[in-house]
Amino acid sequence: MDSKTFLLSFLLLCICLNTHLCLGADTITANRSLSGDQTIVSAGGQFELGFFQPGNSSNYYIGMWYYKQLVSEKTIVWVANREQPVSDRFSSELRISDGNLVLFNESKTPIWSTNVTSTTSGSTEAFLSDDGNFVLRAGSNSSSLPLWQSFDHPAHTWLPGARIGFNTVTNQTQILTSWKTSEDPAPGLYSLELDPNGTNAYLIQWNRSRQYWSSGSWDEKSRIFSLVPEMRLNYIYNFSYVTNKNESYFTYSVYDPKKTSRFVMNTSGQIQQLTWLDSSKQWNLFWSQPRTQCEVYAYCGAFGSCNQNSLPFCNCLHGFEPKSKSGWDLLDYSVGCSRSTPLYSGNSDNGKEDRFWELTSMSLPENDQSVNAGSNVQCQSLCLNNRNCTAYAYDSNNCSIWIGDLLNLQQLSDGRTLYLRLAASEFKDPKSNKGLIIGVSVGSAVGIALLIGLIVVSMLRHRNRVIGKAVEGSLVAFEYRDLQEVTKNFSEKLGGGGFGSVFKGTMPDSSVIAVKKLESVSQGEKQFRTEVSTIGTIQHVNLVRLRGFCSEGSKRLLVYDYMPNGSLDAHLFNCQSDVLDWKTRYQIALGTARGLAYLHEKCIDCIIHCDIKPENILLDTELCPKVADFGLAKLVGREFSRVLTTMRGTRGYLAPEWISGVAVTAKADVYSYGMMLFEIVSGRRNSEQSEDGKVRFFPTWAAELITSTEEGDVLSLLDPKLERNGDVEEITRVIRVACWCVQDDEAHRPSMGQVVQILEGVLDVNLPSVPRSLQVFGGSQDHIVFFTESSSSQSSHAPSNNASTASSQTKSTPSSTISKRSEEHQTST
Ligand SMILES: *[C@@H]1O[C@H](CO)[C@@H](O)[C@H](O)[C@H]1NC(C)=O
Ligand SMILES: *[C@@H]1O[C@H](CO)[C@@H](O)[C@H](O)[C@H]1NC(C)=O
Ligand SMILES: *[C@@H]1O[C@H](CO)[C@@H](O)[C@H](O)[C@H]1NC(C)=O
Ligand SMILES: *[C@@H]1O[C@H](CO)[C@@H](O)[C@H](O)[C@H]1NC(C)=O
Ligand SMILES: *[C@@H]1O[C@H](CO)[C@@H](O)[C@H](O)[C@H]1NC(C)=O
Ligand SMILES: *[C@@H]1O[C@H](CO)[C@@H](O)[C@H](O)[C@H]1NC(C)=O
Ligand SMILES: *[C@@H]1O[C@H](CO)[C@@H](O)[C@H](O)[C@H]1NC(C)=O
Ligand SMILES: *[C@@H]1O[C@H](CO)[C@@H](O)[C@H](O)[C@H]1NC(C)=O
Ligand SMILES: *[C@@H]1O[C@H](CO)[C@@H](O)[C@H](O)[C@H]1NC(C)=O
Ligand SMILES: *[C@@H]1O[C@H](CO)[C@@H](O)[C@H](O)[C@H]1NC(C)=O
Ligand SMILES: *[C@@H]1O[C@H](CO)[C@@H](O)[C@H](O)[C@H]1NC(C)=O
Ligand SMILES: *[C@@H]1O[C@H](CO)[C@@H](O)[C@H](O)[C@H]1NC(C)=O
Repeated sequence: MDSKTFLLSFLLLCICLNTHLCLGADTITANRSLSGDQTIVSAGGQFELGFFQPGNSSNYYIGMWYYKQLVSEKTIVWVANREQPVSDRFSSELRISDGNLVLFNESKTPIWSTNVTSTTSGSTEAFLSDDGNFVLRAGSNSSSLPLWQSFDHPAHTWLPGARIGFNTVTNQTQILTSWKTSEDPAPGLYSLELDPNGTNAYLIQWNRSRQYWSSGSWDEKSRIFSLVPEMRLNYIYNFSYVTNKNESYFTYSVYDPKKTSRFVMNTSGQIQQLTWLDSSKQWNLFWSQPRTQCEVYAYCGAFGSCNQNSLPFCNCLHGFEPKSKSGWDLLDYSVGCSRSTPLYSGNSDNGKEDRFWELTSMSLPENDQSVNAGSNVQCQSLCLNNRNCTAYAYDSNNCSIWIGDLLNLQQLSDGRTLYLRLAASEFKDPKSNKGLIIGVSVGSAVGIALLIGLIVVSMLRHRNRVIGKAVEGSLVAFEYRDLQEVTKNFSEKLGGGGFGSVFKGTMPDSSVIAVKKLESVSQGEKQFRTEVSTIGTIQHVNLVRLRGFCSEGSKRLLVYDYMPNGSLDAHLFNCQSDVLDWKTRYQIALGTARGLAYLHEKCIDCIIHCDIKPENILLDTELCPKVADFGLAKLVGREFSRVLTTMRGTRGYLAPEWISGVAVTAKADVYSYGMMLFEIVSGRRNSEQSEDGKVRFFPTWAAELITSTEEGDVLSLLDPKLERNGDVEEITRVIRVACWCVQDDEAHRPSMGQVVQILEGVLDVNLPSVPRSLQVFGGSQDHIVFFTESSSSQSSHAPSNNASTASSQTKSTPSSTISKRSEEHQTST
């Protein structure tokens, strides 16, 4: 015992003398029960157990949490009486009774018990261990087998050392079940368990019946689950799988015992891996699965619709309202929505027949019934005539109807049309009426002619109208009304990101624009204008040009040049589009690097893009790449990193420092760029399995092949669609750059300027080391480096001497920066 621990123990001893129970106690014995504010603490000061109150709830539960010296934010890891709370903790008691641990409520009624048929009654005791296991055992012999342990009955948290699996002899299964809400630890709808069919994969289910996520099978060699490649990005956990005749389970340990880490099945229906950061005193989310919220089955409940691009994710469908306001306030959407106006019952005279509201771009719910109908009208009347039909969809002679609750609806950017049955009174405003009128008759020819006339007149009127007025140099301030008009009331959606959707618009001069409607911008008008005018001055041939903006009330929109060839992801990952040949891909890689180098090094304020991925690289008519969405990090402000790391989940482009909480520099873009380079070569997402189904994380494979001393088959790395048509030297160069860019330590990554020079062939790149995060587990423990700490022990990858001198040359004085900028400006216009 060193002097510090001695002092601590001494201090605690002093406190102990004054209080009933204290750190000294880690067991509940026949003589020592737990009531009121009393707690027991594990011997090493890791965990504490006692009554707690979740959030603003008035209920008390017996729970376990990290001892506050370890984790200052009270974090519950286990709950005993999940479904039977008590309201007065002082008259409730947890004690040993007939060899069991029993919780008695205010009226001394047992409401929770370990419920074992003990053979050795008399001297049982319950002991809280330092790994967070609460063990009921016979007597104080620590080597005797536990009669019962909390590790076998997990709540929503999986702690290191615990097992999640099943035992076929005892029929015991360990299942992680979410809390109902943040204030109610009762079992919620989402659970994680080992596939009971005996494959070594984890499944997440909704209501223990509908599976919506699978980890993919465990690969013993690379020690990851095939569908969770993120696991490689954190060499923190040592997972192991045990299976035999009697039982199958996973358990894990943390390489660094000082790290405090947990897995939780969150109320959001996602499994999350979190680590406590002592420096910032908060839990740090490493990854969550499923990656996006809307992938969680029926997350928004019945008649709720999930939209990944809006906050909150859930909304009730038109004509419906939250079933439980308080539930929605606590982010528990699972109760769903209920009808605002009851449907027409059919037997009253003054009621009106129900009608159908058109919902476009939806995912269709499951459990549809296919019926025979030759037309939309026929399909509609089939639904209408079935009292229990709530919706229908019709598509080229296929008519589907739904009976009862509609679950798992999702708003997509490209989906099907669903017709929702609503009471006639929900169709009040004829102008915004999107519903179908039953038995619509063909409009009169006169009416149509009138309409055409009107359109022609308004087009003529607009021909000579100037929309918006120029401000701050080349930027135009638009009126919302005008943007609404040129985008035909935002009807043609080009795409949507985390910060808003993009719509196509045609200006009166017939030039085409892309209008981005920003969501969740908290900035005031003045600040917004300042930021926008800064972005407006940034012009480069490889950056998408901002033409203008709109700021009215709470509305914030940005207007950009329209890029006819869309974004890079569609060209790389979409089978339908034309395959980009290798030369084009190389030029896209180079152009993107130039755009980023300009943002990082040549602007007055260095701009970190923060969200480099193929979706944000747009292609013009000549397939010249243009980086989109730069400067948004600043516009969206503090919300940004939350959106990046939580809303979208860790997408495989995020540099480790984003999630480890250290300051993010331009090198975070370099990392994302590197990850994207791998995808440019392979033509598939890094996070996806290869087509042959082999578990291979492409960046690892590519990095190992390129850095291995033996001559590898470089062309085998290339997108199979290119049929080995590529330049070996260029591919090698690109993979080397990629590998250099994704080094764990940002100091080991090149600058974007260096990347440009390498790709231009001006600079050579030495063999970079395979980054830690790409390496397969299996080394001995002391090679493990954690990226949350400064990885000084990591063997540094020194860039070639060439590169270092070049980088010092590119550092320019402010005046030369400005002259460079104006040059660039001219080339871009
Ligand atoms: C428990 O109480 C009994 C009788 O009250 C006493 O004999 C025994 O020593 C106590 N045990 C402990 C561990 O305090
Ligand atoms: C709990 O109550 C406080 C004060 O009434 C309120 O500010 C806070 O938002 C509540 N927390 C939750 C999670 O509802
Ligand atoms: C104690 O639990 C019993 C059984 O659940 C219940 O009937 C009784 O009302 C509870 N007592 C109090 C004071 O809540
Ligand atoms: C204890 O187990 C019995 C049967 O094994 C069961 O009926 C009872 O509900 C259980 N009690 C508690 C509190 O879990
Ligand atoms: C504890 O139990 C183990 C086996 O169950 C036994 O070998 C050991 O002697 C016991 N120790 C004590 C102190 O009773
Ligand atoms: C386990 O479950 C199987 C099938 O459900 C049953 O046949 C068996 O008796 C159970 N075993 C125990 C120990 O409960
Ligand atoms: C398990 O196997 C049964 C029967 O083979 C099958 O019906 C069920 O869908 C399987 N469950 C899962 C989760 O794969
Ligand atoms: C969950 O499943 C049970 C039957 O397995 C069903 O009774 C219950 O309604 C389901 N819950 C929801 C929210 O659908
Ligand atoms: C399986 O259980 C039986 C009886 O419970 C035991 O004898 C056997 O050793 C166990 N097998 C393994 C591989 O653990
Ligand atoms: C669940 O996840 C959300 C989003 O990541 C987070 O804000 C929330 O704190 C999590 N809840 C729990 C209980 O960990
Ligand atoms: C509608 O649902 C009710 C209750 O589920 C059922 O009794 C009735 O037969 C159903 N009617 C039709 C037309 O399916
Ligand atoms: C990982 O866990 C397994 C099983 O618990 C253990 O044998 C192995 O030594 C651990 N590896 C490291 C590097 O700690």
